[in-house]
Amino acid sequence: MIDSLRKHIETSLEAIPYPEAPANLYEPIRYILSLGGKRIRPVLALIGCGLFDEQWQKATPAALAIELFHNFTLMHDDIMDKAPIRRGKPTVHHRWNESVAILSGDAMLVKAYEQLIQTPTAELVRLLSLFNTCALQVCEGQQYDMDFEQRATVSRQEYLKMIRLKTAVLLGFSLQAGALVGGAGLAEQQGLYELGVNMGLAFQLQDDLLDVYAEKDFGKRIGGDIVANKKTLLLIEALERADEHQQKQLFFWLNTENFDPNEKVKAVKEIYDAIGVRALVEEQMQLYHRKAEKALNTLRSHCRPDFVALLEQLMQKLLVRKV
Ligand code: IPE
Ligand code: IPE
Ligand code: MG
Ligand code: MG
Ligand code: MG
Repeated sequence: MIDSLRKHIETSLEAIPYPEAPANLYEPIRYILSLGGKRIRPVLALIGCGLFDEQWQKATPAALAIELFHNFTLMHDDIMDKAPIRRGKPTVHHRWNESVAILSGDAMLVKAYEQLIQTPTAELVRLLSLFNTCALQVCEGQQYDMDFEQRATVSRQEYLKMIRLKTAVLLGFSLQAGALVGGAGLAEQQGLYELGVNMGLAFQLQDDLLDVYAEKDFGKRIGGDIVANKKTLLLIEALERADEHQQKQLFFWLNTENFDPNEKVKAVKEIYDAIGVRALVEEQMQLYHRKAEKALNTLRSHCRPDFVALLEQLMQKLLVRKV
C-alpha cells in the first residue's frame, strides 16, 4: 500500500505542467523530479490525511507542494554543500551551473505554493501559515548548518536544534498538513507534528550515518560531510571522546585547507571507528525512533487502523534504509 501511495505521488508529480521555455529554467525542475527520491514527505502527508479520512487523495495538492519544496531545498543545498551527485546523478549546478540551480529552485518554490493553494480545505490560510513557519525554520536550520562549518566546535544541543530545523520540522509538517486536510482536531494535528519531528530527527541522524558508512550506490558522494567539516553528531562525539593524539588529528583535518578528499575521509573515518562513534549515533537515532513509535501507539484508539499500520511500516523501513 505504501507503494501505491508513492505511485500516486509519482503520477501526480508528472502531471504538473511546466512551459518548455526558457529551457534552462524548467528543464532542471523536470530533471531533479525525474531522478526518483523516496517521496517520504508527500507519502507522510497522504498518510496523515488517511488516518482521519478515507479520502486520503484530498491531501494530494499539499503532498505535491511539500515534495516540490523539498526538491527546491535540495537544489540549493547541493550548491551550499558543493555536492556533485544527488540521487546517483549530477546535481543541477554541476550539470548546468549555479545560477540555473538558484533560479530553478526559486521557481520550484513558487510551484509549491501553486499546488498548496489548491488544497480543498476551509483552513487554507492556516495551512499556508503553518507551511510558511516550517519553510522559514528550514532556512534557519540551513543557515546554522553553514555557520557550524566555520566553527571549531558545536555542542550536541546546538546540533540537535540545527537538524530539528533543517530536516525534522518538514516531516512534522507533512503529517500535520495531511491531518489538517483530513479534518483532524488541533490536538491531533499537534500530536502528529511531534511524531513527525521525532521521525525527522532519527531520519537526519541516519542521513549523517549514511554519509560516512553507506555502500557505493547510495546516490550521494560518500564522506561529503567530513570533507565539508560538517558538525555532525559523529564528529561532536568523536571530539568529545578523543584522546590527545586523536583530537590533534581531528583538528588537523578540520583546519587543513589543501588536502586530498579521499585521504581526509579515510583518516577521519578511522578515528570515528577507533572511538566507536557509529554505535553512539545509532543509539541516539533509536531513541528518537522509539519516541515516534510511542506517539504512534497513541493513534490506535482514534485513527483508521490501516493507515496507522502504513505509518508504522514506513517508520520501520526508514530505520533500515540504505539510501
Ligand atoms: C535528503 O532527503 C535531505 C535530508 C533532509 C537528509 P531524502 O533522503 O528524503 O531525499 P530523497 O528525496 O529521498 O532523495
Ligand atoms: C539537508 O541536509 C537538509 C535540507 C536539504 C534542508 P543534508 O545536506 O545532510 O542533506 P543531503 O545529505 O545533502 O541530502
Ligand atoms: Mg546540507
Ligand atoms: Mg547536502
Ligand atoms: Mg546529508
